[in-house]
Amino acid sequence: MSLFSMELQLWYNKNQRDLPWRNTTNPYYIWLSEVILQQTRVQQGMSYYLKFISHYPTVQSLANADEQEVLNLWQGLGYYSRARNMHKTARHVVEVFDGDFPDTHDGLLKLPGVGNYTAAAIGSFAFDLPLAVVDGNVYRVLSRYFNLDEYIDTGVGQKTYQKLADELLDKNNPAAHNQAIMELGALVCTPKNPNCACCPLEFSCEAKSKNTWSSLPKKKGKIKIKKRTFHYLLVVKDDALFLSQRGDKDIWANMYEFPLVESENFSDALQSSLTLVKTVSHKLTHQHLTVHFYSVKESKDFLTNGSYLLVPFEDLKNYPLPRVIEKFLEEELSLFSRF
Ligand code: ADE
Ligand code: SF4
Repeated sequence: MSLFSMELQLWYNKNQRDLPWRNTTNPYYIWLSEVILQQTRVQQGMSYYLKFISHYPTVQSLANADEQEVLNLWQGLGYYSRARNMHKTARHVVEVFDGDFPDTHDGLLKLPGVGNYTAAAIGSFAFDLPLAVVDGNVYRVLSRYFNLDEYIDTGVGQKTYQKLADELLDKNNPAAHNQAIMELGALVCTPKNPNCACCPLEFSCEAKSKNTWSSLPKKKGKIKIKKRTFHYLLVVKDDALFLSQRGDKDIWANMYEFPLVESENFSDALQSSLTLVKTVSHKLTHQHLTVHFYSVKESKDFLTNGSYLLVPFEDLKNYPLPRVIEKFLEEELSLFSRF
């Protein structure tokens, strides 16, 4: 057994909470507890767990239950699709496995709604299979203990953590080891203020000695790219062009630009008085812009409401312009040379 696991289990034996699903090796009960705890706190999940096992003491009784009754018992947990899927899985276990939960890793993974975490939880808690659980608590403990900057939300990162967790697992006592590491994450190595002074791993923990715990575990996160469509109106009057200043909350803060309509579906009516001069794609880190430039035929009474500036061509260089507009002016200058 690794020193890591030994320290962990010694701590767990003294400090574990008495949770009802820890006093059983019945795979149905364990599966039920894991389904309930997927998006629910332990404190809230406990009463639901007890309610469900008393109403449906066997997987057959849950499978045969009326759906409405199951949903009524679920009331307060939210996400009723979870309750429906739970009911469906119970029927699957009865119909396909004759009411017996599979006792192998591959078999468990074939159950609807059962992924790596739940398969390892049922496998180790019910059948003593040497499968390491990796949930949010485990990511946090491992990333800190080893000071790992692997991402926990990428396939590569998740494989790395699963491999490490498998290596550390006490194969002679996978159930206690798994419960212990999750319990440490839940009670001591918490997201915001880990209680390192009470942690059995304090003296070998890398994040503790390097003081890096607050930025672990690392997430890559999704950068959501926003798509926007800009319609710029080139309104020329004598030897000058209308500009307006952007606000300070958006891209290109306080810079200058042509009169702008931002819209996915620019109305045809408006477009009929316009001639499309050029369309360019412009990529920013978090935004992809499609920028259309139009020349406006009727410019006599255009834009006299004061928020627009009439800037002579020769003065344009004195106004900070977004690169996409600068480039347009460089490339299409001939357009204006006739003015
Ligand atoms: N959260 C999810 N599964 C759990 C378990 N088996 N014990 C405590 N908290 C949990
Ligand atoms: Fe987490 Fe602190 Fe323990 Fe390290 S010493 S595992 S950071 S609680």
